Amino acid sequence: VKRKMVSQVAQQTRTIETDCLEQWIEQYRGESSRGKCAAYIPALKEADPTQLGICVVGPDGQISRAGNYDALFTLQSISKVISFLAACTHHGIASVLEQVDVEPTGDAFDSMVRLEMHKPGRPFNPMINAGAITVSSLLKGNSTQEKFLSFQQMVERMTGRKHQINEDVYRSEWQTANRNRSLAYYLAATGFLACPVEDALDVYIRQCSLEVTAEDIAKIGLILAHDGYDPIRKEQLFGKELARVTKALMVTCGMYNASGNFAAFVGVPAKSGVSGGIMAAVPPRGRSGELPFACGCGIGVYGPAIDQYGNSVAGVALLKHMASTWDLTIY
Ligand code: DON
Repeated sequence: VKRKMVSQVAQQTRTIETDCLEQWIEQYRGESSRGKCAAYIPALKEADPTQLGICVVGPDGQISRAGNYDALFTLQSISKVISFLAACTHHGIASVLEQVDVEPTGDAFDSMVRLEMHKPGRPFNPMINAGAITVSSLLKGNSTQEKFLSFQQMVERMTGRKHQINEDVYRSEWQTANRNRSLAYYLAATGFLACPVEDALDVYIRQCSLEVTAEDIAKIGLILAHDGYDPIRKEQLFGKELARVTKALMVTCGMYNASGNFAAFVGVPAKSGVSGGIMAAVPPRGRSGELPFACGCGIGVYGPAIDQYGNSVAGVALLKHMASTWDLTIY
């Protein structure tokens, strides 16, 4: 009887948006065959590439979920947005931007080619690995534990729950981090690392290994969409200026060297990770009052098969469809 009642309540709270999302998930799940799970971090290769899940959170707390929405995955590069927020909250935006610029590169996320081309070697932006390692080194605290804690607290303030590291992914990345290690040594040599190399790497790899669901990243997206204000818990978590700088970075660099295509065909600030997550922030759009989520929303997508740029193939296809149907673009 109890199970029947629960399912009746679930039926009643099921929205038209959820029905659309379920249908689109099945439509786009097959797109995953055009990509592959990341293999350069061996533990990520273990994921089932056909998973596709989505969660959309609106400012009134309305949640629409579909597909593999409850799968756990690691933040990977999505963590770069949160470490940037945490470092800027601690030092101020201007002082963080003395150490890392806000210009897109058009190169791969782990590229090192531009570091030496432009003296004195300040990383181009906090969304590429080099810039993110610099930002991790700037996190509040004098040890890796304290720095990681300040990152973790920032995540947990936004998602409203505790998160754990996926130890397998952490170990796997630590053992294969030669490229990130070389970036970190280069940054140390040019004066763009605020703590020892191995400490910065440890904090960075820990933040990449934090486990979340699509709903967690949708909540973070919602707070960014509302300029640092959490409309559900009615609390300003960080300043409007920081939210705007961060969203500009997401638009220009969040999807790496596919950011232009994503801006053209989805058109919202977003950040991807190689585990297959995409976090998107959809600000309120005055022009389309009757469309779903016209008052803004956060979107979390998970689909572990990624393309050559490191973005979820099925996730991007699903977001393109949603954006055109629900008129999500900010442009
Ligand atoms: O440092 C790395 O290579 C990974 N921990 C994160 C890279 C990543 O997620 C790039 N995103 N698409």
